[in-house]
Amino acid sequence: MKISDEVAAAINTQINNELTSSYLYLAMSAWFETQPYPGFAKWMLKQSEEERMHAMKFFNYLNDRGGVVKLEAIKEPKAKYSKPLEAFQLALESEIKTTKQIHHIYEVADTAKDYETRHFLSWFLQEQVEEEKTASDWVQKLELAGEHVNALFNLDHDANTREDI
Ligand SMILES: [Fe+2]
Ligand SMILES: [Fe+2]
Repeated sequence: MKISDEVAAAINTQINNELTSSYLYLAMSAWFETQPYPGFAKWMLKQSEEERMHAMKFFNYLNDRGGVVKLEAIKEPKAKYSKPLEAFQLALESEIKTTKQIHHIYEVADTAKDYETRHFLSWFLQEQVEEEKTASDWVQKLELAGEHVNALFNLDHDANTREDI
């Protein structure tokens, strides 16, 4: 069954939201590159790639359901941070916002009795649990590290081991 206009519009908005997240993480990676934190720069680059993959999941799904993808302008991301903690705090806020966005699409799909989209979104609901937990863990660790350079470099080293996207 062809997707309804309401659900298609919500998914188009989410393609933009995921690309906005991807752009934000890419800007964070660029900022970390200007700092002595190559591990966090790499981690943020991987995260940016992951968000693009999320955008493409929505992109492909909308095409598969007979909807029309409409790309819009992406907001300029914040470019400068005072310290790693500030970047990860913003990452956590951004992930919490994403979870709410996914909930909104779910509600639109519910109203439209679009069972396929509800099923499709279950992957994202689960993914957001992970995304929030990961960002929250980094915030906690960076809060504990405070201004201790050794602790910060150890965390940067841990971030550098990220292989998944
Ligand atoms: Fe995402
Ligand atoms: Fe995310």
